[in-house]
Amino acid sequence: MKVTIDGIEIDVPKGTTILQAARMIGAQVAPPAMCYYSKLKTSGGYCRTCIVKVTKGSAQNPNPMPKPVASCRTEVMDGMEVQNFTSPEVLEARKGVVEFLLINHPLDCPVCDQAGECKLQDLGYENGSAKTRYEFKRREFEMIDIGDKIKLHMNRCILCYRCVKTAEQFTDERVHGVIHRGDMGEISTYIEKVIDNDFSGNVIDVCPVGALTDNTFRFKQRVWFTKPVDAHRNCPTCSGRVRVWLKGEEVVRVTARKDEWDEIMDTPDGKSGFICNSCRYDHKQKSDWVIEGPTQVNRHSVISQNHYNHLNELKVQVMKQQKALGFMPLDKKP
Ligand code: SF4
Ligand code: SF4
Ligand code: FES
Repeated sequence: MKVTIDGIEIDVPKGTTILQAARMIGAQVAPPAMCYYSKLKTSGGYCRTCIVKVTKGSAQNPNPMPKPVASCRTEVMDGMEVQNFTSPEVLEARKGVVEFLLINHPLDCPVCDQAGECKLQDLGYENGSAKTRYEFKRREFEMIDIGDKIKLHMNRCILCYRCVKTAEQFTDERVHGVIHRGDMGEISTYIEKVIDNDFSGNVIDVCPVGALTDNTFRFKQRVWFTKPVDAHRNCPTCSGRVRVWLKGEEVVRVTARKDEWDEIMDTPDGKSGFICNSCRYDHKQKSDWVIEGPTQVNRHSVISQNHYNHLNELKVQVMKQQKALGFMPLDKKP
């Protein structure tokens, strides 16, 4: 099936959604997605950040769709034409979505563990307004410990359901969910029952905001002062392929490896990359891990600041310039 997104045409299999097709083209056309998660069945359709405009329904029925549609839930039709970043209407509508997502959100970024790797922060920066028009009291919740390893800060939750679907699809027993609906909706463990099973820590990794944080990492370090490296160990429970976050020689946290869409990556042989709690919490010595090398951090990410990869790139550029100008490299001077 042929679909054109922001003027770029691509062939995709039947059943592909507009969002998936856009990701196949690349980040230059892919809409933001706060609730869709390709590894979680039935995810998507909650947050509306992925809206796009369908200007031509299909080759057979060229009529445009009357309203913006959620690209994560809309399958492409042959000959469909879609606008995302090229549509001023979509950009305006997305601003409205972001305004709604932020209506009850606290101004916690300076003290929030997710800052620097938060998709809501990026979204707010790219599509938000500098001021709020909201005059009512914001919803406020007490922080809850879900067991000794996970902290739930409901004030920051955007009700994307990713953690609920992760618990449902990757753990033996789901003991939390969204209770109430709409403005009253909240994540609850039904009397704060502990999420306690081998894969429960993955809810932290899938949460796009700082609503679910790792108690063992909380307030330990700003993420941009850490050095992420890819590492592995022989684990009997999961793939053992992780990202180890170092501060000097200290392992400050262990997470699953994520891809460019901020989703947990499958292993090269197609197995799930969701990691077990033993890898995440019980192996905090550098010697527990075989370090493969520095994580490739997107250079637009705040995490790339001050990083060796980044500095290496800079060094190569400087050396090229020196060579072009006929300078002798510093390390070759007599
Ligand atoms: S969840 Fe994201 S946007 Fe909200 S306070 Fe934390 S870093 Fe800021
Ligand atoms: S806690 Fe996080 S993952 Fe769970 S619904 Fe809220 S924002 Fe989504
Ligand atoms: S990503 Fe499509 S509705 Fe949330």
